[in-house]
Amino acid sequence: MFIVEQTTMIQLEGIEKELLKKLEQKDYSLGQLSLMSEKELAEDLEIEEELAALIIQKAQEQLGIHPYTAAEFLEIERRRGRITTGSEEFDSMLNGGIWTGEITELVGSFSSGKTQLCFQLCINVQLPKDLGGLEGKAFFIDTERTFSPQRIEEIASFRIKNTKKVLDNILVAPTSNTDIMLAYINQLEKIIPEENIKLVIIDSLAAHFRAEFIGKNRLVERQQKIMNLAEKLVEIAVDHDVAIVVTNQIIAAIDQFLYGSGEEPALGFAWAHRPQQRIFLRKSRGSARIARLFDSSRFPDREILFYVTEQGISDTSPASLEFY
Ligand code: GTP
Ligand code: MG
Repeated sequence: MFIVEQTTMIQLEGIEKELLKKLEQKDYSLGQLSLMSEKELAEDLEIEEELAALIIQKAQEQLGIHPYTAAEFLEIERRRGRITTGSEEFDSMLNGGIWTGEITELVGSFSSGKTQLCFQLCINVQLPKDLGGLEGKAFFIDTERTFSPQRIEEIASFRIKNTKKVLDNILVAPTSNTDIMLAYINQLEKIIPEENIKLVIIDSLAAHFRAEFIGKNRLVERQQKIMNLAEKLVEIAVDHDVAIVVTNQIIAAIDQFLYGSGEEPALGFAWAHRPQQRIFLRKSRGSARIARLFDSSRFPDREILFYVTEQGISDTSPASLEFY
């Protein structure tokens, strides 16, 4: 929440000091102010409606509540960062890698490579920009307790000399239930700018929800929680320009034709429309994996082949990589 601070008030040009004090005493957030009617605010502050309208307008401006032109939108999109996955094929499917400012979902059954890809991204986000990174840190929410620093060190060691630094730049949050997971997510807005986080991972998003909210009578509560969380994640991704990658499990499909495979992502419709990119991962022969992009708002549906090797995510098996 945005609290009405001294600095916020200073930006409200043309408003008397006495009125600013009054506003401060009321302790309105910018969000609250932006939603109030002129009449309501005028009555509460005992001021003219015209002045109340000005305050509401300024609050809305400071929250960025105004339409953009499509050209401005394009410019914002161009400035967003991308993190290489380690596979050129995978990157090209997403027009350059995993994007900041949005949620990317990796859906797949066990051993399909979700966690391995997350590990690789934790390393790659730290790379210089010309090598496909964002020179930032990763924040890893580990709900399944499968986070493995040894494995990350191993993958990193094939391309990076200082693997200790790689591990120092990954913050790990092990969680044992939804409340703890949500508490970490609430901390993110403070930690992201302080620590220069460019990638947030939740591996997996479904685990706690599926374990805790069992039975039909808790479905509504569960869906409500998922919806609130999804909204919060979108807000964090956009406001802080970070990439959010979440993994999700698959369940037997209720609608056989929706995803075309008899399987569908867990968490249902409360979650389904939130990620901008949804990618199905599935096993192929040996270390080969298939990634299928579906339901993207920007890219065509496409399927590519990549490999999970000893050296991490790659286009070939085994990978012949050079040191950075
Ligand atoms: P769940 O979390 O169980 O749903 O699966 P996941 O999709 O997260 O699977 P994960 O990413 O952990 O992939 C596991 C697979 O990665 C294994 O079956 C191996 O094929 C591969 N893998 C894991 N570690 C190594 C390794 O050290 N070397 C190689 N070559 N492959 C590995
Ligand atoms: Mg996993």
